[in-house]
Amino acid sequence: MKIAFFSTKPYDREFFEKYNEANQISFYEVALNEQSIRLAEGAEAVCVFVNDKINASIIEALQKAGVQLIALRCAGFNNVDLGAARNASIKVVRVPAYSPYAVAEHALALIMTLNRKTHKAYNRVREGNFSLEKLTGFDLYHKTVGIIGTGKIGGIFAKIMLGLGCKVLAYDMFPDEHLTAAGVNYVDFEELLIHSDIVSLHCPLTEATRHLINAEALAQMKLGVMLINTSRGALIDTQAVVEALKNKTLGYLGIDVYEQEENIFFNDLSGQILQDDTLARLMTFPNVLITSHQGFLTEEALTQIAITTLQNVSDFEHKIALINEVK
Ligand code: NAI
Repeated sequence: MKIAFFSTKPYDREFFEKYNEANQISFYEVALNEQSIRLAEGAEAVCVFVNDKINASIIEALQKAGVQLIALRCAGFNNVDLGAARNASIKVVRVPAYSPYAVAEHALALIMTLNRKTHKAYNRVREGNFSLEKLTGFDLYHKTVGIIGTGKIGGIFAKIMLGLGCKVLAYDMFPDEHLTAAGVNYVDFEELLIHSDIVSLHCPLTEATRHLINAEALAQMKLGVMLINTSRGALIDTQAVVEALKNKTLGYLGIDVYEQEENIFFNDLSGQILQDDTLARLMTFPNVLITSHQGFLTEEALTQIAITTLQNVSDFEHKIALINEVK
């Protein structure tokens, strides 16, 4: 099949070229949008990532271009207008699980770095500064970690934190009995906020979860709490979080995702003037750690993303039931 790949980086090309046998792939660095859509002409499928906004007008244009399949090379699908795709008879497939370990372990990396300040220690020592001033952290052992969403990633993250000797609270409409047996204590949302020293978000972005962490939720949290978001930026009301950091009620923030991340994350903007004032403000806090949506970025996850995406395309081409279809 002819597939037009959008928002591609060298690592996408590397892994897809390694596993592609049957398809004619065109890799484009640009995101799929009104301007770049002409690149999809003649392709039967487009392959897109988390920040390609596939709205109704893009879908209409894809239909006109002859595209029959949108292959998401990610798990989340909040960026696709599924109703418009259905009306245009364009199928949407995704990679529901690649390496949940990659994201869960990245959440741990954010916690460890924020807590023990290894990013600051690294720079300090390189400058010949061996002082320990302001590097004090806290033991994770016996701290209470609240996990919102205990699906594939949240479940693994829960086990990691149990392994570190933490008490784990969780909130999910569908409690996992295996996690309960492992020692996770399911509570309601409010109770989780009140009792947790660290809150980590692992639920999807939906209309129900948009700004789940808003001023009201932040006000219920422990003074000095650590908030971690490796899920989707809009789970957090960023303005409310900035206020909570300024008034020192929020002790630490670790984010791999940001509400307005498209056009910023995944790009080298080091020579440019950052136009996003909220992100610029976040970057000034000493107790904020931002990574640019790299939770998925492991060898294992990139391998699985390539293999599953190519299998999804092959199943579509050969009219085999699409097990990873999003409806
Ligand atoms: P999953 O579907 O296995 O689990 C999500 C869980 O959230 C489910 O148990 C569901 O019941 C729960 N949930 C849904 N609505 C909820 C609510 N209102 N409150 C509490 N829980 C709720 O998804 P998975 O694979 O664990 O991924 C979670 C999220 O991680 C994805 O939606 C995606 O946004 C994000 N992600 C981030 C990546 C990164 O690179 N930073 C990479 C992959 C996923």
